[in-house]
Amino acid sequence: MSIGRSFFLWASRNSTLRERLPQYGFVKKSVSRFMPGETSEDALNAAEELQRSNNISTVLTHLGENVSTEAETHQVKDHYLELIDQIHIRGLDAQVSVKLTELGLDQDLNLCTSNLKELAGAAAKTNNFLWIDMEGTQYTSSTLDLYSRVREEFQKTGVCVQSYLYRTSEDLEKLIRLKSGIRLVKGAYAESPAVAFASKSDNDENYFKLAGMLLQGNQELSRIAFGTHDQLLIGRILDHANRMKVARDSFEIQMLYGIRKKDQLRLVQQGCRVRVLISYGTFWFPWYMRRLAERPANVFFVIKNVFRS
Ligand code: FDA
Repeated sequence: MSIGRSFFLWASRNSTLRERLPQYGFVKKSVSRFMPGETSEDALNAAEELQRSNNISTVLTHLGENVSTEAETHQVKDHYLELIDQIHIRGLDAQVSVKLTELGLDQDLNLCTSNLKELAGAAAKTNNFLWIDMEGTQYTSSTLDLYSRVREEFQKTGVCVQSYLYRTSEDLEKLIRLKSGIRLVKGAYAESPAVAFASKSDNDENYFKLAGMLLQGNQELSRIAFGTHDQLLIGRILDHANRMKVARDSFEIQMLYGIRKKDQLRLVQQGCRVRVLISYGTFWFPWYMRRLAERPANVFFVIKNVFRS
C-alpha cells in the first residue's frame, strides 16, 4: 500500500483530526467537490438535477458510522424512512444505500435486522430498491448473513461486495444462488494482506474476474452494479459483456458524485445505465479521507483551496 493511501486511511480513523479539520473553511470547500451539501434536501436537489439534465439516476447515502445507542439507530432509520418517502413524492429514480453499523450492527443483531427490514419494506412499498454498503472486513460475514436473511423476504435489496478480499469469489457464488442484487467495488478500507490483495493490479484483475461471474449469472441476479471509476476496467467489462451477448441495459455502472463526470456522460451516450452515488451529512471527514486515499492527486484541490482562502 502506498504511503499516501496509508496516511489518509490512518487519518480517516483519527478522532482528533475528525474533530478539528472539518472546522477549517478550506477543508469544507475541498469536500464540496464530492458532496452537494450536508442535508438530505441538498442531496435530493442534486439527484433531481442529474436526472433532469443528464439522464443519470442516483443512490443516496447519509454519512455516519458506528452509532452507539439503540435510540441513535432509530434516528438513522427514521431519517431514511423520510428520505424514501421524499424520493417517492418527487418521482425520482433514486435509491438508498445504508451502512449496517448505523442501524445497530455493533449493538444487537435483532435490532439491526428489524431496522433493516423496516427500510426494505418502505423501499418495496414505493417500488424502490435498498442497497447495503460493505464496511471493514470485521463486518463482512455479519453483513452478508444479515443480507441473506432480509433477501428471503425482500427481493428488491442488494449488497456491496469488495474485489480486494480473497473471499469474495466464494461469497459471490452464494449470492448468485440467492438471486441477489450486487454492487461490485474495489474496496475502500485498510485491510491486511492476510485477507486482501495489496496491489492495485491484483485487485483490478480480481475485479474483472468477479465482473465475469456477475455477467455470467446475470439471468439469476436481481440487479448488477459495477461501482468503479476505472475506465480501463469499465471498457474491458463492456467488451466482455458484448462477447457474452449480455445487453448493456441489464447492468449499471455506478460512480461517486463529482468524480469522472465526463465519463459518466459519455457512458450514458454509449447506451449504458449510469447511477451516481450521492453522499451527504455532517459526518463526512472519515469518508472524505477515504476518497483522498483513493486518489492522493485530489490533495491538490485541498492545497488550492488553502491558497484561495
Ligand atoms: P481506482 O481507485 O483504481 O481508480 C481508478 C481511476 O478512477 C483513478 O485513476 C481516477 O482517475 C479515478 N478515481 C478513483 N477514485 C477517485 C477519487 N476519489 N477522486 C478522483 N478520481 C478518482 N467501498 C467500500 O468499501 N464499500 C462500499 O460500500 C462502497 N460503495 C461504493 C459505491 C459506489 C457507487 C462507488 C463508485 C464506490 C464505492 N466504494 C465502496 C468505493 C470503492 O471501494 C473504491 O474505493 C472507489 O470506487 C475507488 O476505486 P475505483 O474502482 O474507482 O478505482
